[in-house]
Amino acid sequence: MKKHICPWYVGYLLANPLRRLFQNPKNILRPFIKEGMTILEVGPGMGFFSLPLAKFVGETGRVVCVDLQEKMIKSLRRRADKAGLLTRIETRLSTETSLQIDDLREKVDFALAFAVVHEVSDPKKLFTQIFNSLKREGMLLVSEPTGHVTKGEFDTMLSIAQSAGLKILDTLNIARSHSVTLSKISDF
Ligand SMILES: C[S@@+](CC[C@H](N)C(=O)[O-])C[C@H]1O[C@@H](n2cnc3c(N)ncnc32)[C@H](O)[C@@H]1O
Repeated sequence: MKKHICPWYVGYLLANPLRRLFQNPKNILRPFIKEGMTILEVGPGMGFFSLPLAKFVGETGRVVCVDLQEKMIKSLRRRADKAGLLTRIETRLSTETSLQIDDLREKVDFALAFAVVHEVSDPKKLFTQIFNSLKREGMLLVSEPTGHVTKGEFDTMLSIAQSAGLKILDTLNIARSHSVTLSKISDF
C-alpha cells in the first residue's frame, strides 16, 4: 500500500531546536551510545537526532543516515557540516524497498527508526534489513508518534518486527510517542 511520506518542508519543523523541550536527543539516546559505535539511522529527515548521535559516537564512530528524500539528506549534510560533524556522518539515499545497506551486514551497534515506520510500505522488509545490519548484541530503537499511529497500529508494527527476528526489550517513556527497544538476541 502506498504510504504518506513526510513532505520535505516538514523536515524544518522536525529539526527545530524547540523540539528538545519534549523530545531531548540527549535524554533519549545517550544511554545507548558509546564512543566508536556504528549507528544506523533510518529516516533521519534533516538530522534532529543525527547530529547529537554524531557527537555521542566521537571521532572514532560513524552514523549512517538513510533517507528516501534527497532534500532531507541535503539539509542534514548542510547542518552536519556547519556543526563540524560531517566527517562522522555518512548519508545514503534509499528506495521505497531498499535501505541500500547490504554492506553493513552485522556491523551496526545501534539503529534508530524515529517516526518513520508508519511511512514505510513494506515494514517487514525494513525490519529484516535492519535485523541483518545489526551486530549480535545490536539494538534498535523504534519510536512512532501518537498523533499518527494508534497503540493498536504500533503493536502490529512490533509483531512485524518480531516476525523479522527482532525481540522486544523495553518500553521507553518518550513524550508523544510509542517507543520500544528491540534486540537481535534474547539473552541480552
Ligand atoms: C516524519 S519524518 C521523521 C524524521 C526524523 N526521524 C525525526 O524524527 O525528526 C520521516 C522521515 O522518514 C523518511 N522515510 C520515509 N520512508 C522511508 C524509507 N522507506 N526509507 C528511508 N527513509 C524513509 C522520510 O523521507 C522522512 O525524512
